[in-house]
Amino acid sequence: MVKIAPSILATNPLHVLEDLRQLEVVGVDLIHVDVIDGVFAPNFGYTPAFIKALASETSIPIDAHLMIVNPLKYVSVFAEAGAEYISVHVESLDASSARMLLNLSREQGFRCGFAIRPSTPEPSWLEDVLDKADFILPMSVEPGFSGQKFMRSVLPRFKWFSDIRRQNAYSYELEADGGVTQENAAELVGSGVDILVAGSSIFSSGDVKQAAEKLRSACGVYTV
Ligand code: DX5
Ligand code: ZN
Repeated sequence: MVKIAPSILATNPLHVLEDLRQLEVVGVDLIHVDVIDGVFAPNFGYTPAFIKALASETSIPIDAHLMIVNPLKYVSVFAEAGAEYISVHVESLDASSARMLLNLSREQGFRCGFAIRPSTPEPSWLEDVLDKADFILPMSVEPGFSGQKFMRSVLPRFKWFSDIRRQNAYSYELEADGGVTQENAAELVGSGVDILVAGSSIFSSGDVKQAAEKLRSACGVYTV
């Protein structure tokens, strides 16, 4: 079952609650919340206080995407705020901090993901932690902004992570984030993707509910 995760960086922040109610009617699987520190990527995103407020308003699990330097310093704050999925960029980690992060995720009960920029080669330590990772997020745009064009060059990377998962019976989910639309959803699912993050294709459509439903239909998943 493919999961749909609307990315609220793409909406008007003053409309988040209205949008959330529409998304609850559709029954989306996750709310993707981008956290950006202006250093790791050239923009600013949402805060722990915002995530806490959002979590108190909805039972849809929150997927926090940390585009920040020094993630170990802050990850617990996001877990305590109510994020159930937390992805951290491999560019901000090394072998030892990645293991510390996985330990923290087990202690604190969040699902731990490793995100990677399109231009970053997989670090050598990543393969050693794939058996423990809860999800992998190979980005299909450079991090920072909604509304960018999907980079098709990333498709083989999804396939690669999907093949490794099958060969080793790993259980991580594969998340796609950046330029996901109704048009490329089926191809992503065919490449092994389980979670589709979608920002502008849902929030710039004028009808959030209809756009989320169309995205779901585009990957062959229907609600009853
Ligand atoms: C970009 C963010 C994405 C973004 C996706 O750095 O990580 O989550 O909001 O937006 P779209 O779907 O418009 O590319
Ligand atoms: Zn994101």
